[in-house]
Amino acid sequence: MKNETFLKACRREPSAHTPVWLMRQAGRYMKEYMAIREKYSFLEMCRAPELACEVTLQPIKAFEMDAAIIFADILLPLPGMGIDLEFAKNEGPVIKNPVRAKKDVAAVRVINPQEDVPFLLDAIKMVKKDLNGKVPLIGFSGSPFTLASYIIEGEGSKNYVHAKSLMYSDPEDWGKLLDKISDVIIAYLNAQIDAGVDCVQLFDSWVGCLGPDDYKRFALPHTKKVIAGVKKTVPLINFSANTGTYLNLVKEAGGDVVGVDWRVRLDEAWKTIGYDKGIQGNLDPVVLFGPVKEIKKRVKEIIGLSGGRPGHIFNLGHGIIVGTPVDSVRAVVDAVHEYSRK
Ligand code: CP3
Repeated sequence: MKNETFLKACRREPSAHTPVWLMRQAGRYMKEYMAIREKYSFLEMCRAPELACEVTLQPIKAFEMDAAIIFADILLPLPGMGIDLEFAKNEGPVIKNPVRAKKDVAAVRVINPQEDVPFLLDAIKMVKKDLNGKVPLIGFSGSPFTLASYIIEGEGSKNYVHAKSLMYSDPEDWGKLLDKISDVIIAYLNAQIDAGVDCVQLFDSWVGCLGPDDYKRFALPHTKKVIAGVKKTVPLINFSANTGTYLNLVKEAGGDVVGVDWRVRLDEAWKTIGYDKGIQGNLDPVVLFGPVKEIKKRVKEIIGLSGGRPGHIFNLGHGIIVGTPVDSVRAVVDAVHEYSRK
């Protein structure tokens, strides 16, 4: 690997500078992405390895990113589980047969990645070849709670009424469903590792809708099971949003690096997580809509809060938002390198 800064940080080893990549770094804020997206739907792009490969590499060519993330989605395993997935125009994911009743839980299948997501594994092999060791490649999956929330709600949600209702009214079925989803995630991530990714990240984007006691009872055991079941040959990043008040529980799930959002101070978060783990984060993505001077100031502050300790991976606190100026992305990446260079 020519640029080892990201993998060194995953192992908490010192490196030449703080590594940086940005969640959702490939996407609609880039004109190169939109040029392809005009011709194909999002799922068509995910299912065509040449397109997924090209889009994965777009931010690597445009910026000095220290890692690539495979162009895919946390919802790609759903069709193989027997769940109908569509992306409605400008509305995000829609599922026609959400899991609501006992019989629905029983019908959910555990995927076979070679049969159900072969295009993803092919895309990973293609990207690894094209990268030729320039930077590492990250594979990813949703976490059990976040995937369950889509599978039960059938779309994005504000209050998670259906998901929480199942949790509270039928904890046994909730457990059965999350157990199956966890087996899917383990298979999905291990197949990506076998295909060649250098690291994997779990996205628990919506688990922060749970209070600490519910997190501990209904989400943590499943995330823990997933992390225990994923091959230990590559590092694992456990990212969650809106969990700043119970990072003491999040760290119990395991993983080499914990990803945090901007609602916590990085120094306090790291202290809670423990210095025996790395930390990833945590610039507010909306700062990128502000002036470059302010962006640079915020980047410098976060680097300062890491205290020069090895094991910090710079990222946003959540994914890049559509409409983010490309120059702001470049400003973040370059500022991280400038302020952290040894
Ligand atoms: O980081 C990357 O660049 C890799 C690609 C990536 C995508 N989705 C591509 C995508 C990653 C890591 C994801 C993860 C993902 N997908 C999450 C977790 C991250 C997060 O933001 O919390 C979630 C919740 C999803 C589910 C999903 N996919 C939603 C809710 C949507 C629609 C909303 C939206 O952002 O448009 C998607 C579609 C999606 N996934 C797009 C991309 C580039 C946009 C598709 C388009 O071009 O229309």
